Amino acid sequence: MARFIPKDLIEEIRGQNDIVDVISEYLELKPSGRGFFALCPFHSEKTPSFHISPERQIYHCFGCGVGGNVFSFIMDIENIGFVDAAKILADRAGIDLPETYDSKHYEEKMALSNKMYEINTQAARFYHSQLISKIGRPALEYLKSRKLSTKTIRRFGLGFAPDAWDKTREHLKDLGFEEDDLLKCGIIVQGKENTYDRFRNRIMFPIIDQRDNVVGFGGRVMDESVPKYLNTSDSPVFNKSNVLFGLNLAKRRRPLKDIILVEGYMDVIALNQYGYYNVVATLGTALTLEQAGLIRRYAGDAIVAYDGDIAGRRAAIRAIDMLTRAGCNVRVMIFPKGMDPDDIVIQHGKDYFNSLLMKSIPSVEFQLDILKEDYDIKTQKGRVEYVTAAAKILSKIENILERDVYINYLAKNTGFRSELIYRQISSMTPERQAKSVKKDFVGNNRHISIDIGSGSRSSHIITEKVLLNLMAQNENIAKKVRDRLGDYMFEEGIHRELIAIIDEILNEGSELNMAKIFDYIHESEESQQVMEVFDMQIEYDDIDKYIDDCINRLEEYKLKRDWKQVQAQISEMEKGKEYDLEEYTRLLERAQELNREIVILEREGRE
Ligand code: UTP
Ligand code: MN
Repeated sequence: MARFIPKDLIEEIRGQNDIVDVISEYLELKPSGRGFFALCPFHSEKTPSFHISPERQIYHCFGCGVGGNVFSFIMDIENIGFVDAAKILADRAGIDLPETYDSKHYEEKMALSNKMYEINTQAARFYHSQLISKIGRPALEYLKSRKLSTKTIRRFGLGFAPDAWDKTREHLKDLGFEEDDLLKCGIIVQGKENTYDRFRNRIMFPIIDQRDNVVGFGGRVMDESVPKYLNTSDSPVFNKSNVLFGLNLAKRRRPLKDIILVEGYMDVIALNQYGYYNVVATLGTALTLEQAGLIRRYAGDAIVAYDGDIAGRRAAIRAIDMLTRAGCNVRVMIFPKGMDPDDIVIQHGKDYFNSLLMKSIPSVEFQLDILKEDYDIKTQKGRVEYVTAAAKILSKIENILERDVYINYLAKNTGFRSELIYRQISSMTPERQAKSVKKDFVGNNRHISIDIGSGSRSSHIITEKVLLNLMAQNENIAKKVRDRLGDYMFEEGIHRELIAIIDEILNEGSELNMAKIFDYIHESEESQQVMEVFDMQIEYDDIDKYIDDCINRLEEYKLKRDWKQVQAQISEMEKGKEYDLEEYTRLLERAQELNREIVILEREGRE
């Protein structure tokens, strides 16, 4: 039976039920160090090995390996499902669990959504059939004049809404849909007396979400009339601020190194035609944090490719802000004035677009350049003001090495000595640094005890565990580690799952802790593996340095692994009689390059 409790409520219930209080109603607890021990209720034993951590709000039995949060404890001890456990705990805390949260409400909601998807899908089919029929001739010709191929038109399911008030409505009614639902879906509009089709005489762009549901449409005129685009209004399944056009196609290409963010439907489509599948667009609104989070979920890096005009650059600044906040590394493509990605690739070809892509600049550089335009840096006064404002941007960069790069860039651009700029930045940062350090160390002042430097073969797996354990402590640490991890993939399957869970919690922007992670884990086998990660006591002096050490270790491992692979390929080639000299040289160079990087890392590690 599918039942449903909203996430917020689950969190509230967990927050109101201290795990020690709850478990003490079932077991006799003996204090020990930071937590409590009890005789495990899930296997028979004489000495207590069932441990409860008040700090982490989780339990774990060292004897039989069970573990979890307050929900899983109630589920296991009462032998009931999640929803019933939630009811018991809600009762216990005096929280009202309205009956509407049960299956009926949830199923009704799902049924409505499914109906909306179905209507949209049928509408998309109808529009497409119109496009390739005689009626759609001018529309098809328009698309051809924009140089879109038949394959592209089909891939995006483009269509044509006939020039009539009721054709779409009547078609959908013939298929058995009710007028009420068509209204809810935004396909038709309520007039004074009658309903009528929202989209008339327009080229139709179906908007498909990342779960492959058709959620709405954009409709473009074929001439210069306004509005150029008409979009579906918000519906039970359509909210402009959390959909990205093109994400359904981009996500199929996972893993994605980066996602190119453009402004328009036509940009996504044209770039797709030229083989860039990692392209998404907002629907005519500014990028929201939610959308930035989606991009972060599917790719680490974002490349902002907005129009070269003033509006485009202003929008780019905002998008950079959102993407950075969501944890993306951001680069910016610069286009000649008045051109968008569609113009570039269609009129000047893929090579030209690619050259611009290669020349994309880090977002900080872009921000500094834009800022510069506000000042007259030919004058002494202008230069001082510019550098002061720029220092503010630079002070937000956490990585000091990266910061150093921009300090030099700024120095080169203004003629101030780097040391001076550096001093200016330091003079604005101590407060911020003190604050963040304090936050990280509250109740957490520990000393290094796990030797992540052990040279054993599986040490990188331990390092993965250590990093996950740190991430699970709170969202600040998690974000830090996430940033530093970039697109490094953990090797252990369960570790990858944990990263995905942590990403999801971070994306929601809600609080992160070990107990919360267990909400996402449904197999008891998994929860045992997860306990291995969470049960380590990691102690450190300086969290940043500790994280850096861990990441360096992983990088070193990865480099060495790659190096071994390349070496194997080389000896494989040398064994054969004939080989491609070019490929052979390339491999040799790659091996050398890897070797260099390993040496550098090892040197850093010793320092
Ligand atoms: P653009 O005007 O850049 O459109 O608007 P475009 O996608 O490049 O289309 P072409 O090349 O002119 O045919 C960018 C996006 O802003 C939204 C649409 O999502 C569009 O793709 N928009 C624009 C609207 O929602 N309404 C409008 O009237 C105009
Ligand atoms: Mn355009």
